[in-house]
Amino acid sequence: MEFHKDLSHVGWEEVKRRQLQRESLVYEWIKLVGMKPGKSVLDIGTGPGVFTLKYAQVVGNEGIIYALDQSKEALDLLVDATDTKHSNIHTVCADAEMPLPSVEGVDIVMITDILHHAHSPVRVIRNIYQHIKLHGSVLISEFDPSSEGHIGPPLQNRISKEEIKKLVQMEAFQIVKEGKQEHEHYYLLLKKDA
Ligand SMILES: C[S@@+](CC[C@H](N)C(=O)[O-])C[C@H]1O[C@@H](n2cnc3c(N)ncnc32)[C@H](O)[C@@H]1O
Repeated sequence: MEFHKDLSHVGWEEVKRRQLQRESLVYEWIKLVGMKPGKSVLDIGTGPGVFTLKYAQVVGNEGIIYALDQSKEALDLLVDATDTKHSNIHTVCADAEMPLPSVEGVDIVMITDILHHAHSPVRVIRNIYQHIKLHGSVLISEFDPSSEGHIGPPLQNRISKEEIKKLVQMEAFQIVKEGKQEHEHYYLLLKKDA
């Protein structure tokens, strides 16, 4: 199956099934960024929102989740799955590569499995810099191009950790931790430093 950055080769139910398949990653991400009740989170590229709902449970009603995606269809699936317990989720239909509307300075930005879909990953990183508080955390997680390729996008359509490291260092982000994860993933934990 040919890979398309906009996921038109799969469909949202399939994207949701794949999110459920790698759900175990989300618990490590939550720990890494220190997500807890009251925090504000910008989730870039929520897709159908399987992980977004977990973040909403963690931050609770004192916190806020900005669930941003360029696809209204994906956001509609998230809204359908949201019950009154998750009134802390604000959906934002926007392109993360363009200046972002209506997002206040947040404590945490999640960018998981987005950058290999972006036409310009550096524009996404530059944009989020404007929307995160000083000393806020950013978690980037991606499929590793040096893994086996048993799941996820074709190896040639992945973005390497080294490539992302170069991009984030062009902005005033500090890399505080990095590592490998299951499901052929790696992560980078960043802090906004200045
Ligand atoms: C593979 S899904 C990842 C969903 C989720 N973050 C995860 O970790 O599973 C990629 C999502 O990013 C969205 N996306 C890709 N490029 C985007 C952009 N430039 N702006 C906003 N959303 C984008 C797609 O619409 C899709 O819902």
